[in-house]
Amino acid sequence: MTATIIDGRAVGLTIRDQVATAITARLANGQRPPSLHVVLCGDDPASATYVRIKSQVAPKVGIDFTLHTPPATTTTAELVALVHSLNADAEVDAILVQIPLPAQIDERAVLVAVDPAKDADGFHPLNFGILAQGGTPPALPGTPAGCMELLRHYDIPLRGARAVVIGRSTIVGRPMALLLIASDATVTVCHSRTVNLAAVCREADILVSAIGKPGFVDASFVKPGACVIDVGTTPIDGTVHGDVVRTDVEPVAGWLSPVPGGVGPMTIAMLMRNTLALAAARTPMPQTQVG
Ligand code: GUN
Repeated sequence: MTATIIDGRAVGLTIRDQVATAITARLANGQRPPSLHVVLCGDDPASATYVRIKSQVAPKVGIDFTLHTPPATTTTAELVALVHSLNADAEVDAILVQIPLPAQIDERAVLVAVDPAKDADGFHPLNFGILAQGGTPPALPGTPAGCMELLRHYDIPLRGARAVVIGRSTIVGRPMALLLIASDATVTVCHSRTVNLAAVCREADILVSAIGKPGFVDASFVKPGACVIDVGTTPIDGTVHGDVVRTDVEPVAGWLSPVPGGVGPMTIAMLMRNTLALAAARTPMPQTQVG
């Protein structure tokens, strides 16, 4: 068997096209472009790269992108004040605070300061709580939502399937598990303290790896025919590396979402879709008169 390689670039482009079309319709209706404000605090080089990609894609779909770059020495109070000013600005539809934040900043205090109706990441505890309760928040966390789109696009069976998520982060592992549960998968979350991790992973019909350890997932983790989604993004010497040993896993898996070209482009596409959804919820298109 050789895995079908999941093409996140193609699926991401399709979603971006859909977003662009919807934004064109809003402009034709006299509405302003959706606006996304990103806060990049500090000097994390990987974060700077991710934010640059977001800034390049946003205008391509018709989203107004504004970057705020408070210095690495910013205090929690200063960052919260910046977020509050964005909340109060009627021209701001969506806010994203890039994570990780510098060590002196209370990340939770900043994320909870974001207006839940402008929460482009779905990281606000209210939105995360809605997701945990099986509801639909205004925006879903971009990376796991992108993984779900890939699974749907490639018709990977989810109902009753065994899914294993490696990693329990707020950004990927936890919301990924919640989304898989919402699709009726039977979900196990593995992490650094999991005993017999490879054996647990071998039970998975769907294996999502999000721990940021290049080379961690080899063929011994993979049930023949399984769908393997690599969410690892470890920068080494200017290139990004996933968690999965592709040459090892490709002959065993049924599907493989690779790095690069798998989940990464989907995260960006989901952010664009979230921004549009938040703008649309704040300023709906006028209803067409009937009769
Ligand atoms: N850092 C890494 N991924 C993400 C993301 O999806 N959103 C935010 N805000 N920060 C991140």
